[in-house]
Amino acid sequence: WERPDAIPFRQRLLVVANRLPVSAVRRGEESWSLEVSAGGLVTALLGVKEFEARWIGWAGVNVPDEAGQRALTKALAEKRCIPVFLDEDIVHQYYNGYCNNILWPLFHYLGLPQEDRLATTRSFQSQFAAYKKANQMFADVVNQHYEEGDVVWCHDYHLMFLPKCLKDYNSKMKVGWFLHTPFPSSEIHRTLPSRSELLRAVLAADLVGFHTYDYARHFVSACTRILGLEGTPEGVEDQGRLTRVAAFPIGIDSDRFIRALEVPQVQEHIRELKERFAGRKVMLGVDRLDMIKGIPQKILAFEKFLEENSSWRDKVVLLQIAVPTRTDVPEYQKLTSQVHEIVGRINGRFGTLTAVPIHHLDRSLDFHALCALYAVTDVALVTSLRDGMNLVSYEFVACQDSKKGVLILSEFAGAAQSLGAGAILVNPWNITEVAASIGQALNMSAEEREKRHWHNFGHVTTHTAQEWAETFVSELNDTVVEAQLRIRQ
Ligand code: ADP
Ligand code: G6P
Repeated sequence: WERPDAIPFRQRLLVVANRLPVSAVRRGEESWSLEVSAGGLVTALLGVKEFEARWIGWAGVNVPDEAGQRALTKALAEKRCIPVFLDEDIVHQYYNGYCNNILWPLFHYLGLPQEDRLATTRSFQSQFAAYKKANQMFADVVNQHYEEGDVVWCHDYHLMFLPKCLKDYNSKMKVGWFLHTPFPSSEIHRTLPSRSELLRAVLAADLVGFHTYDYARHFVSACTRILGLEGTPEGVEDQGRLTRVAAFPIGIDSDRFIRALEVPQVQEHIRELKERFAGRKVMLGVDRLDMIKGIPQKILAFEKFLEENSSWRDKVVLLQIAVPTRTDVPEYQKLTSQVHEIVGRINGRFGTLTAVPIHHLDRSLDFHALCALYAVTDVALVTSLRDGMNLVSYEFVACQDSKKGVLILSEFAGAAQSLGAGAILVNPWNITEVAASIGQALNMSAEEREKRHWHNFGHVTTHTAQEWAETFVSELNDTVVEAQLRIRQ
């Protein structure tokens, strides 16, 4: 028995993200099943345990009827999730349009798709209006559930307007905003027609966080160059009010992966995979099927490696697991067919009647299957063209206790700043370099693999999702006080 006053105080945290950690699938008029959503934001936030957290977000499904909304709200409440219901038109304009056809490629330095550029420019205003409307809808739900003393933590490029909407409701609300993608150079950001409005809306937050110091610096430069505000070592100042800006590199719940390797079902899976690929080195790619992940470039580099190293052709296999994502956005549809075409061509070229060099799966794997795959992998290929952090690289490292496999990592992933010394860093656009690094990884001595592994493992197990969240929230709590002190001075 514990005295009530001995129960530690757990601060209530309202986590607001476009995507809830579970996505809903309708089974009947009032019956729903919930599936874990894929993506780095969800993975990291699931590792955060020390708070009394409520999630507010979209369940990934259109629910036009009230009975369905009531039933889903109830089902989600058991997971401490609160839904924001977005209708089809808003999803089309805000999520598919402004978020994933404009902000996402821009923040990853991919620009806009050439042939759609004029059409995109024409629909820009209506998409931006839908973006603001959607952010206001999130703010309304937060406001309904907010209690004094709560901390509100807004996430990602979908919700850049949210800090402003929340502060308009209640200027005392503690509001933090964290970006899970890169923030690009101010020269890229300034091409966005809504550049100033977005920056000002983010600056309404008390604390603004990024994965790396570079992204934070780009954001501060955008505020100084585009808005003419003053950048200080702590953040951005506007008429005496400070918005603190800092880097908070994200991590994973590494213990969850390490523990999973002991689960009998995972061990059985590992045995099966080892048997299936006996005599061959296993290379692995795990990505959402997204342009930023550089999947076609990665596969072409593997083809070049096979071309130049005929003795490896029957001794290595590439497993590429790519979960489909944002399938209503045309660019993503094109990518799927492009990847299928390249894989088919290479398997036709180098496959035999009994074996193919590339196994490509368009699907999500469950957690245990994923851990088993990481554990049997000799070389992981994370070759994103740009990536905020990339947690797949962390997950691979956490599962490498027995293999001490090699990580080939893009220098354009945020993770290159933390795992750079342990990985082989590559420029993913340079297919020749990536092909050569595959050879280097496959031929690396056990001693060197071990040394690199321990470097990475040390980082992944000490810089966890839990630590990331605690640091952010504790700075957010302090920052508000600091900012008020500054105003009073
Ligand atoms: P992003 O945030 O762009 O999705 P990250 O690498 O940071 O990229 O995070 C991706 C997350 O999604 C990881 O936790 C990874 O395990 C999960 N994931 C990606 N692809 C798959 C897949 N095919 N099956 C299962 N999980 C996946
Ligand atoms: C990235 C983004 C997240 C997003 C995830 C999955 O990790 O930073 O905000 O949730 O991709 O994408 P989706 O569009 O399916 O939510």
